[in-house]
Amino acid sequence: MKIGMLTGGGDCPGLNAVIRAIVRKGTFTYEDEFVGFLEGWRGLIDNMSMPLDLDSVAGILPRGGTILRTSRTNPAKRPDGIERCIAALEKNQIQALIAIGGDDTLSVAQKLHERGVKVVGIPKTIDNDLGGTDYTFGFDTACNIVCEALDRVHTTAEAHNRVMVVEVMGRDAGWIAVYSGIAGGADVILIPERPFDVDKVAESIRQRHERGRYFSIIVVAEGAKFASEPGPGAPILQDMGKDEFGHAKLGGVANILAREIEKRTGYETRAVVLGHIQRGGSPSAFDRVLATRYGLGAIDMVHRGEFGSMAALRANRIVSVPLAEAISRNRVVDDEVIQTMEGLFEKLENKQMVGK
Ligand code: F6P
Repeated sequence: MKIGMLTGGGDCPGLNAVIRAIVRKGTFTYEDEFVGFLEGWRGLIDNMSMPLDLDSVAGILPRGGTILRTSRTNPAKRPDGIERCIAALEKNQIQALIAIGGDDTLSVAQKLHERGVKVVGIPKTIDNDLGGTDYTFGFDTACNIVCEALDRVHTTAEAHNRVMVVEVMGRDAGWIAVYSGIAGGADVILIPERPFDVDKVAESIRQRHERGRYFSIIVVAEGAKFASEPGPGAPILQDMGKDEFGHAKLGGVANILAREIEKRTGYETRAVVLGHIQRGGSPSAFDRVLATRYGLGAIDMVHRGEFGSMAALRANRIVSVPLAEAISRNRVVDDEVIQTMEGLFEKLENKQMVGK
């Protein structure tokens, strides 16, 4: 079979591991031939591709980024974009397409599926917010990077008697903040799911310091919202620009929060924005294995003819779910996880998880 492949949206560690797994199993088991379309959907619109074989995927397992490169190109926003994608698939005699991406990339895959293209999706995002699957690859690596940063921030915060506010990625869902905040021993974790009251955050820090602590660590997701002034109910934006899928550029909540905390408590406070460091570099062992399992699952789905579907992880098994289900909703941090976390904070630190 001649199979096309692309990676779309923000990159994440593990993309190369998926590509490698698909090419290896496709070659060894099914005698497939592969074409990699470059830079996400732009590669189909402009017919930019490269052949993918065992040689081109050799040595890429530990590499971050994606050998196919990526972009946030939305064919639905380009003149004749969807038609051009279909034309490129026909021109290259592609019999099935594997799209590796988050909800934006997979929503285009669904549109192509509705037009008769044989497409299978694979879920990718460090934010871990895609529906239909328990985990996306890239998330574990991002959490490890943030956890290491928190360990480092701890020692400098402690040395200077400071409050440190660490901003992490997470546009609509606070998975990275919650997991890395727990792993890194944060004192306060703020997530988009629960708009927070800055007075309560400041008060909980003040109480902690009155109990004899000299420093505090706050982890805040970039999409976390102030419940009231200085920015009620809306995420903080870097600028007014939007990408082709309509997403604004988030960022800056840590700086504002640091200023407000210092104003209210008098404690010296600094902001750290981890940004794209969370997406770069080599995947963790967990993500290498998960990405490999997704790749192997997806190539089997292609050969079983399970099109319009996405490889998903459910109860530690790779299964096939409809693309339509995966893109139908953002998977936010659920109440059970939040309650579990609050229980931990309550017992150890007298209810320091705020944002309720
Ligand atoms: O891929 C998702 C994400 O990591 C979000 O958490 C973040 O808001 C966004 O990407 C940043 O994207 P860009 O690379 O376009 O700045």
